[in-house]
Amino acid sequence: MMPQSSLDIQPVSKSLGAEIINVDISQPLSASLIDEIHKSWLKNLVLLFRNQTLSDADLVAFSRNFGDLDSVPGWEPFSPDTHPEVLVVSNVQENGTPIGVLGDGEASWHTDMAYIAKPPPASLLYSLEVPDTGGDTCFMNMYDALDALPDDLRRAIEGKTLNHDSSHDSGGNLRPNHQMFTSLAEAPGARHPIIRKHPDTGRPALFLGRRLHAWIVGMDVAQSDALLDRLWEHCLQEDFTYRHEWQPGDLLMWDNRVTMHRRDPFDGGARRVMHRTQLKGIAGVEAAA
Ligand code: OGA
Ligand code: MN
Repeated sequence: MMPQSSLDIQPVSKSLGAEIINVDISQPLSASLIDEIHKSWLKNLVLLFRNQTLSDADLVAFSRNFGDLDSVPGWEPFSPDTHPEVLVVSNVQENGTPIGVLGDGEASWHTDMAYIAKPPPASLLYSLEVPDTGGDTCFMNMYDALDALPDDLRRAIEGKTLNHDSSHDSGGNLRPNHQMFTSLAEAPGARHPIIRKHPDTGRPALFLGRRLHAWIVGMDVAQSDALLDRLWEHCLQEDFTYRHEWQPGDLLMWDNRVTMHRRDPFDGGARRVMHRTQLKGIAGVEAAA
């Protein structure tokens, strides 16, 4: 077979996301092809590869092209086979025990693990089984959300830092071994500038993490809530999003620094089985000037 030299890239929405067509990512890829994929990913924020057949080893090998892999603390028991870097996202139960995380409910808008000091730069999600309806995953372009922000709102958040609560998951449930706090100002978690510069592209983007229990550091809690509500309203009203309807064999990789994502709920009687990797966070991301 001739080596592949360039990619066929098709945008999947006006706002973000592109499909890379006709690349078999279960095979080792040349350095130049990986570089092209990486550049396209930085430009499009979310990449889709359809009709893939990936073992866990293939998923790990493809993911490693883009950096060292992370394991998700607290989720290791769900790792299949012998790949601690692979996490199962699924509602399926075997003998009364869930084979994976996140169940069948809604996962509200979030950035993966924004509540740690060095959040993963990327997550990769590969679908093995999907329901006929429901369980779509939506992505939001946080560069565009910032660019379209009204001036007064931008001025109100410039130079500010957000505390990202670490005690609740994206379904809003208290995580195991965590306690509820009495004031948002006491929520555990990591603090990040609310406007951050992407380390590779240099472009500033909004970094919101998730709405629930977020707090703008130093602000009166009620004022922080009011400002965050306005910011979220701005993000959600505008068309900064791509909705992904899954087929089995889809691999999505997203830039977790400049996108948020959410998932629709789906019928608990249906099966949804996804395998997932994420890249390890590296150097801190700078606040935008
Ligand atoms: C994730 C996630 C949503 C989904 O894997 O980080 O949020 O669609 N998944 O399963
Ligand atoms: Mn997620």
